[in-house]
Amino acid sequence: MDLKLQNKVVIVTGGAKGIGEGIVQVLASEGAIPVIVGRNAEDNQKVVDALTAQGKEAFQVAAELTQPEASEKAVKAVLEKYGRIDGLVNNAGVNDGVGLENGSYEGFIASLHKNVVHYYLMAHYALPALKASKGSIVNISSKTADTGQGGTSAYAASNGGRNALTREWAVELLKYGIRVNSVIVAECWTPLYEKWIETLPNPQEKLAAITANIPLENRMTTAEEIANMTVFLLSETSSHTTGQLIYVDGGYVHLDRALANS
Ligand SMILES: NC(=O)c1ccc[n+]([C@@H]2O[C@H](COP(=O)([O-])OP(=O)(O)OC[C@H]3O[C@@H](n4cnc5c(N)ncnc54)[C@H](O)[C@@H]3O)[C@@H](O)[C@H]2O)c1
Repeated sequence: MDLKLQNKVVIVTGGAKGIGEGIVQVLASEGAIPVIVGRNAEDNQKVVDALTAQGKEAFQVAAELTQPEASEKAVKAVLEKYGRIDGLVNNAGVNDGVGLENGSYEGFIASLHKNVVHYYLMAHYALPALKASKGSIVNISSKTADTGQGGTSAYAASNGGRNALTREWAVELLKYGIRVNSVIVAECWTPLYEKWIETLPNPQEKLAAITANIPLENRMTTAEEIANMTVFLLSETSSHTTGQLIYVDGGYVHLDRALANS
């Protein structure tokens, strides 16, 4: 299938690691120009250099997205370099465990800035360029908005926000032909996931219990599998798909729990 993404400029926040990096790799393999917007210039550049060495084009902008002015600056830097933006993937975030019992006002608000405020700001500042290109937006989100996880109120609220914004923007942007969708992730092995599981008392046992409950093939989703769906949604090939929350999770959220024992 030709996704017709040749030379399309697509911003991926948090594109230096994990799911974001997977999306950057698939975009580059489709001939698009991924632009990593992430906090660590060195990490970003490593990915850009590896792609450049393979004859592919990529670019990076160092930005700490919890700072409200960073999103505007990042969008400006991309426009200065390429003069266009064809797609935006909002992906940067962290499951930071700000709970109801053990949280605070400051922790809750800070987590919203880590996980959802910059989704809004990146889309807000990229919008004029997306209108010009009739581009597309994909918001990466988490199952915690549907299932809860316990002890992570702000992250769950942020993911509920990411999903609501997907529907809200899909409606607001109909008039521009800009499509907005979410890819919902449940269990995907990344540096963030590894860090999270290491905070639990018996990480290896917990991991085995989780994967045993993933209906399709009892395994974690790969970053590439999340990326393949994301890149499809960015492309014209999904031209009549908007406002959708798509679960790339091996059936984890919706299939019968009894499957784990069969
Ligand atoms: N891994 C999973 O199983 C899982 C499950 C559900 C949802 N998600 C979502 O996927 C997204 C990516 O997760 P991941 O597991 O790939 O994470 P990760 O930590 O492995 O990679 C995230 C990258 O984004 C960067 N980043 C994070 N916050 C940033 C900020 N404020 N400013 C600039 N850069 C920032 C990090 O430095 C890192 O390079 C997150 O939004 C998370 O909510 C992941």
